[in-house]
Amino acid sequence: MRLVFLGPPGVGKGTHAKVLCAKHGLAHISTGEILREAVASGTPLGGKVRSYMERGLLVPDELVLQALRRRIAEPDAGAGFVLDGYPRNLKQAKDLERERVRVDRVVYFSAPEEALLKRIGGRRTCEACNRVYNVYFDPPAEPEVCACGGRLVVREDDREEVVRARLKEYAEKTAPLIEHYRARGLLVEVDAEGDIKTVYDRLENAIGKTGRE
Ligand code: AP5
Repeated sequence: MRLVFLGPPGVGKGTHAKVLCAKHGLAHISTGEILREAVASGTPLGGKVRSYMERGLLVPDELVLQALRRRIAEPDAGAGFVLDGYPRNLKQAKDLERERVRVDRVVYFSAPEEALLKRIGGRRTCEACNRVYNVYFDPPAEPEVCACGGRLVVREDDREEVVRARLKEYAEKTAPLIEHYRARGLLVEVDAEGDIKTVYDRLENAIGKTGRE
């Protein structure tokens, strides 16, 4: 199974991708995580993308494509994958076709903006293992500490003014992909309002995997 997860910042793409991939043996390919790791470890790619990410802007298509190519070539992706956060505009969708990366379904998650802002405001990420919590909806057992013992931090681009810029980028550049994939018969929609488990169950139903398969 080769899926694309599409939806605005904070809607829950990463949260559900992690669970779905662990359950069904798929590779979780998050371009946001790949880029954040590159910035954190100071690689040449990280140096090139940092200023875009700090401002909440999409990074140049060619840089993301190079990173994606490397990740998709890794052995675990052979069994199927979830592309979480790629493609992000029509050019990237065309790049994916040109690279002959077959996609079986595109899952579009939607939720009202006030829900997105609340989720982003409560998000905490583990510095050590990248596990994501939410102080309102999915809190850690011990405040600000991950189950692995790592420190929980607020993502750099979750500051309010940067979130506004990310939502604007999404509306202008990414949202047109909804119609692009609907026209190709690939789009399935998941209402992402509701608690995490309810939304996950909707996702499994939408992609035709009930968990009994
Ligand atoms: P990226 O990391 O992809 O960020 P994003 O798309 O803005 O998505 P988020 O990670 O904010 O949200 P999510 O939907 O994964 O939500 P999550 O599951 O964490 O990209 C970051 C940056 O990298 C971009 O701005 C850009 O600069 C660059 N970039 C990345 N890919 C690129 C590309 N292809 N091209 C160009 N640039 C690119 O959930 C959010 C919170 O809510 C969590 O705390 C979670 O616990 C909680 N939560 C989840 N679901 C629920 C629920 N149902 N109820 C209550 N809480 C919930």
